[in-house]
This record gives sequence, structure tokens and C-alpha cells, in this order.
Amino acid sequence: MAETLRLGSWAAAREALRHRDLRQGLYDEGRALMDGVVVNLHGGPHTERRRLENRLFRRDTFAYWEAELIPVLLRETLATHRADHPDVDIVPVVRHAMLRLAACVAGLDIGADTADFLRLAGLMTRLASASTVVHATGDKTTIVADGLAALDEFKSAFLAPAWARRETLIQDVRAGKRQESDLPRDVLTLLLAARADHDLSSGDIEREVAYFPWVGSHSTSIALVHALHHCFEADARGPGLIDALVATPELLQRFVHESLRLHPASPEAVRRAVSDGQLPTGERFAAGDTVVVDMFAANTDKAVFGDDADRFDPTRTIPVGVTPWGLTFGSGFHACLGQELAGGLPPGQSDGDRLFGAITVMISTLLTAGAQRSTRHPPVRDERTTRPVWRSYHVVFEDHVARERNPS
Ligand code: HEM
Repeated sequence: MAETLRLGSWAAAREALRHRDLRQGLYDEGRALMDGVVVNLHGGPHTERRRLENRLFRRDTFAYWEAELIPVLLRETLATHRADHPDVDIVPVVRHAMLRLAACVAGLDIGADTADFLRLAGLMTRLASASTVVHATGDKTTIVADGLAALDEFKSAFLAPAWARRETLIQDVRAGKRQESDLPRDVLTLLLAARADHDLSSGDIEREVAYFPWVGSHSTSIALVHALHHCFEADARGPGLIDALVATPELLQRFVHESLRLHPASPEAVRRAVSDGQLPTGERFAAGDTVVVDMFAANTDKAVFGDDADRFDPTRTIPVGVTPWGLTFGSGFHACLGQELAGGLPPGQSDGDRLFGAITVMISTLLTAGAQRSTRHPPVRDERTTRPVWRSYHVVFEDHVARERNPS
């Protein structure tokens, strides 16, 4: 009978995520939406897809987005939410700002129509819930059926026009009427152009393009709100801290990485054994077994992060060879493609401009604008999922605070 092996030590967790005989298992219950999606592929097909998409995830592009695009997207999104309420729930604001970016990466042509954009955001929330149904607390059959209905609506309302436009551009390039450099740099264009060579069905392309907007926006916004919470908590204990965070992005990025370590996006990674095997740390598994990696336990392993591993301490010393965010971006062949976009790079690893990551850049933008925790609306946890998530987190923006934080 198939068994379940639970892993909580850093070393075993890391080895399991890198083991070639263990395939992705987190999306089995949401397979109708996740079949053929990169994070759900295994072996040769996964390597092939990853190699193809990796071309889009370039450090020079991220550096440009950090400097020019992300603060603007956030300020614009914030302006639309601030217009109606003095207390702003920051959860949808950062999610929508990041969704605009992730939708571009996916290959959707998002215009200026707010109602249209909110419709996309609603569809992405339904797709995210259905794809990660394994962690849902509600009725799972209903959630998956709702996800499939959302996918259909997404296909007709958003994907079909983007698809048609790119097909025409690709035909034009093939006919010599345009340069290849005229093509958009996004997942949809890449997959359509490589369709025949990689034997991709329309369904594969649809599900893959539907995956990027929610995976890019939901995990990043959830992580951002956790990190912002730590900033406010630390400031409450030592007033003036936020001024230092605004002035020193390196320090703010340390806060973000430490927060990422303590709040992995998914509490568990799940793998299924495709054959009998053994981890270098000794644990054995048989074909068909399930391997559950407790991400929080691995990220707070005292042997690696010290006796106070479960405490938030952005000054902690991280051992050589260990990532400051722990395993929160995964490890090995499925390691997050958006890691550098969301989290930047630790000191000393950027070739040109220092990459701080979207989370640090967005928190810095919010704090610089004078964001403070609302006293009228305390933060609320989300009870609809076993994932530890803030359902709402209200902040207020005070002009005099913004002036104090930006004395020049
Ligand atoms: C704080 C933000 C984020 C976190 C914590 C996060 C976390 C993760 C984790 C843990 C995995 C590996 C899953 C596994 O091994 O089972 C993963 C994979 C992935 N992530 Fe992220 N992610 C984030 C942001 C992003 C962004 C911004 C994008 C793209 C716009 C993205 C795209 C992907 C993709 C495409 C994969 C699949 C890679 C593969 O299977 O080869 N992620 N992410």
C-alpha cells in the first residue's frame, strides 16, 4: 500500500525537492486546471518547457521593471483604491499591481478599462483557489467546478484576443513582413511560436497562460503583506525603524527575505514517487508513495538557522550555501521562475544593478508614501484556506508621515 513520508528537516526537504524520482504532487486534486502546466510537468517535458520559458526571466528585464515599472504600477493601482476610502486594504492593491505585471509576462493585453481588469482579477482568484484546492477548507468539488467555469470565461474574454493578435504577428514574422524583435516577449508568444516543435496542444497553452497571472500575483502579494506586517511590528517595538527601512533598501530586503523564510507560500510541498528510491539523507520511498515536505519546519530547522529559528530576526547570520528565504521559492528543477523578480538577489549576487525584488520595491514605495497600520481596521486572517494568509490589511497614508520619512 502506498505510504506517506513526512519530511521536516532542512537537509531532507531540500533533497526531496531536488530528487528526480519524485514528481510534483501538489496539484493532483486540481489537475483539470493544472494538467500540462510547467509546475506540474516532470522529467524531459518539464526540462524542455522550463528551458523555453527561462528566456523570459532575464535579470536586465527585472532591473528595468524594478526601477521604472513596478513603483508606477503600484502608485497607479493605489490611486484607484485611495480615491474611495481613507483606510486602504493593501491586500487587493498589491495583488492588482502585481497582476498587471504578471499578466504582461503571461501575454495578455490589458487595457486601461478598470472593470475589465477587475473581471480578470476575479477570474484569477477563482483559478488560484481551484488549482490549490488541496489546501481549501470548503467543498472541493464545487471549487474545482467553479475554477473550470472561470477558465472558460478567461479563455473567451482575455486569452482569445491576445492569442489571435500574436498568431498574426508570428505569421507576419514567418512571412518576412516583420522582424522577430517585433514579437512581444511573453509566455503566450513563446508557446505559440514553439507549438509545433514542442507538440503543445491548445489546452496546454491555455492552462499555462492562465497559470502565470495568478501564481505571479497571489504568492507575491501574500508575501508582501507578511513582510509589511513585520516592518510595522518592528517599528512598534523600536520607533524610527521605518525611517531606516525607507533609507536603506538593503535592510528592507533583509526584512523581506527573513519574512519569506517564516511564511512559505504553500505550507507543504507534495511529491509522488515515480519509482522506488532513497534520499541522500537516508529516507526511503517506494513507487506510488507520497512525500510531504513541511516547508515551515524545514525553514525553521534549528540545525541550520539556530536555536531561535522560528523568531523573526533580520540580523541573523545565514550559513554559507543556504538561501536567506529558506526553501520558500522551492529548490532544484521546480525552483520558482519568478524568484528574482519577487525577491531580488542577496548581496553580492547581482551582476549589474542590485536586484532588490518587487516585494522590497513595493514596500519601499508604500512606506515612502507614508503608509501606517490602520487603527480603525485591524488586520484579518483568511479562514478559507489552511495557508496562512492575511485576508485584509488596512493602512492609512498620512502626508505629514510621508514628509517625515522623506526629509529631503
Ligand atoms: C513571493 C513570491 C513567490 C513565491 C513565494 C513563489 C514560490 C514558488 C515555489 C515554492 C515554487 C516551486 C513549487 C514546487 O517546487 O512545487 C514556484 C514555482 C514557480 N513559480 Fe513562483 N513564487 C513566487 C512568485 C512568482 C512569480 C512573480 C512568478 C512569475 C511571474 C512565479 C512563477 C513560478 C513558476 C512558473 C513556477 C514553476 C517553475 C517550475 O515548475 O519549473 N512565481 N514558485
